[in-house]
Amino acid sequence: MKSDERYNSIIANSEYLALLNSINEYETDRKFCRHGIKHLLDTARIMYIITLEENLPYSKDIIYAAALLHDIGRYEQYKNGTPHHIAGKRAAEHILPRCGYSADEAEIISKAISEHRTPSDDTDSSLGALLYKADKLSRMCFCCGVKDECYWDRELKNENIII
Ligand SMILES: [Fe+2]
Ligand SMILES: [Fe+2]
Repeated sequence: MKSDERYNSIIANSEYLALLNSINEYETDRKFCRHGIKHLLDTARIMYIITLEENLPYSKDIIYAAALLHDIGRYEQYKNGTPHHIAGKRAAEHILPRCGYSADEAEIISKAISEHRTPSDDTDSSLGALLYKADKLSRMCFCCGVKDECYWDRELKNENIII
């Protein structure tokens, strides 16, 4: 399998697709940001742009895997309250080896998923910090009809297009 084909095997993985569909069902009536494929791909592309701009050492295959899987634990969070960064880490550890990722790569990606809700300082260029930053930048608060009801801190809300 070519390196740049591995993230496409994630979106072809039946367990991944089942989790994604379940999240979509849970979020059918959600008025705040959703966690479907659009958000996941927006996050991947922003991570990739930052990586190119800042010369970070992450391949597209690693970036897309982290982004595509980072919110997959939302299913368990909706179902039984497990925080989604913890459930997502576990799901990623299970799915990544089935999609051609090595044990070392799966560990790096899963760790980043477990860190994606933890704010980091601007100098942190770890994969988890990159995921946190792109995840937040992906949200279009400037045109959101419910931003005043959203629980995000005011300074986190994106009032402009940044990337
Ligand atoms: Fe998340
Ligand atoms: Fe997210």
